[in-house]
Order: sequence, then C-alpha cells, then structure tokens
Amino acid sequence: MKIDILTLFPESFSYLNSSILKRAQESGKIEINIIDIRAFSLDKHKKCDDYPFGGGAGMLMMVQPVYDAVKSVQDENAVIVMPSPSGKTLNVESVKELSKLEHIIFICGHYEGLDERIKDIFHPIEISIGDYVLTGGELPTMVIVDAVSRFVSGVINEESLKEESFSSGLLEYPQYTRPADFIGYKVPDVLLSGNHAEIEKWRKEKSLEKTKQIRPDLLKKL
Ligand code: ADE
Repeated sequence: MKIDILTLFPESFSYLNSSILKRAQESGKIEINIIDIRAFSLDKHKKCDDYPFGGGAGMLMMVQPVYDAVKSVQDENAVIVMPSPSGKTLNVESVKELSKLEHIIFICGHYEGLDERIKDIFHPIEISIGDYVLTGGELPTMVIVDAVSRFVSGVINEESLKEESFSSGLLEYPQYTRPADFIGYKVPDVLLSGNHAEIEKWRKEKSLEKTKQIRPDLLKKL
C-alpha cells in the first residue's frame, strides 16, 4: 500500500518512522511519503494561507498549493482522504475497507480549514476520528494510517488482529507477563494452570464482563 501525506507540517510525522510502522516500511509492506504543501506555493514567502472572502475569523489554506501537491502524487488508483470533524467517524469496518486500497492520499487541513474548492475538485472521503475538534489533520492522519496499516497483510501477526478489541465485537481480556507476583499483585491462577480450555473460558468471561461495564453499546451489535 502506498500512502502519500500532504501537510504544512512534515515534521509532525516522525512517529510513523518508529516501531511497527518503521518495520512495515522497511519490509516494503507499506510506503509512506510525506509531502510538504509549502513546496508548491507560488508565493515568494511560501505563503499557503489567506483570509476568507466575505470576512470571518482565522485563515484558510489556499487552493493552489494543495491542488498542485495532490496533482504531483495522484494516479488512477489513488483515493483521497481528508480528515475532518465533519466526516464519518472511523471504526474497525472503515479501517478494514481502507486497508484494501492500493494508494491513499491524505490532505491535512490546518488553520480554520481549506478553501472549499479542494473538495469540489477532488471529492475526498472525509473521515473524523471522534466528536471533538483538533488543531489540524496531522494527528487524525497518523491515527488513520496507524489503524489501517495494522490490517495490511504482513504488518502484524494475524492472530493478534483476531483476538483484539472490536474484531470479536468485545473488548479485550486482561493480559499479564512475568513476574507472577509483583509486590503482592498476583496473576490469576487460571492463567498459570496450563489448562487451555479453562483459560479460554476465563478470557471470554473477562471480555464480556469488561464490555458490559465499559461499552455495553457493543453488546447490542453482536
Ligand atoms: N480535524 C480536526 N478535528 C478532527 C477530528 N476530530 N477528526 C478528524 N479530523 C479532524
């Protein structure tokens, strides 16, 4: 999968070069390119924002630099995504759908938003990561890229995907590693028993208990 990220703040994306996503890029499972929109500005000061016509608070990202940045990477397979609080909220189903795509271009808005003509020209899919407003599209883009990459074949162990929260419709059961007793906080006996059927049963019960307590809405979807 190829991912192009168009942004005015390329330095924000160093997170994508660590841990699992770093390995996924090194092994060629995903390719991530960060494109600086400012490089496409025709202004001598590389200005990319301006006042809204008709007045109003704040600045808007200008259409021309964003248009040229998209055109520099767009091909016939590319799907354009624009993180936005007014998009549909991301969930495990939309993450899985996005993970099947060959090429995604993210446009990160900033300031008070973008000139509306970007949407008129490219018809991006708008995706929200929750009902709150962030200062720009950079963090939502990283959230979406991270979540989507996990479903790209070979990026993480397929077993982890099956067992994790939301894939089964339930929240994940608690897990422990050594030591079995830490300052009196003990690992549940059943996990040390070696009885796989009992362990499985305990994990299911814990998942259900946790989901009932924290996310009862998920149980209605089962
Ligand atoms: N940009 C600003 N807030 C956002 C949100 N909640 N989701 C996606 N993009 C955003």
